[in-house]
Amino acid sequence: MIVCVCKAVSDRKIRSAIADGMDSFDELQFELGVALCCGKCEASVRDVMQQSGVCASHCGVQQHGGAQAVLLTFYERQAA
Ligand code: FES
Repeated sequence: MIVCVCKAVSDRKIRSAIADGMDSFDELQFELGVALCCGKCEASVRDVMQQSGVCASHCGVQQHGGAQAVLLTFYERQAA
């Protein structure tokens, strides 16, 4: 199903990006271009993120809990 009509981004593509390690809205927006045109898809993108197990607060942290809740960007993780 197409989530972002303006950029023709499907939920499958968003889930694939999340599986590849992107777990914040900003990363998905930068890489896929979602919500950069009319912006009407933002809530749907966030819903797909939540359905994919990304933090419900959309902060980019997959699991909260003490010292492990370190927020790293996709690029920081790739460089590590
Ligand atoms: S539908 Fe995604 S930016 Fe317009």
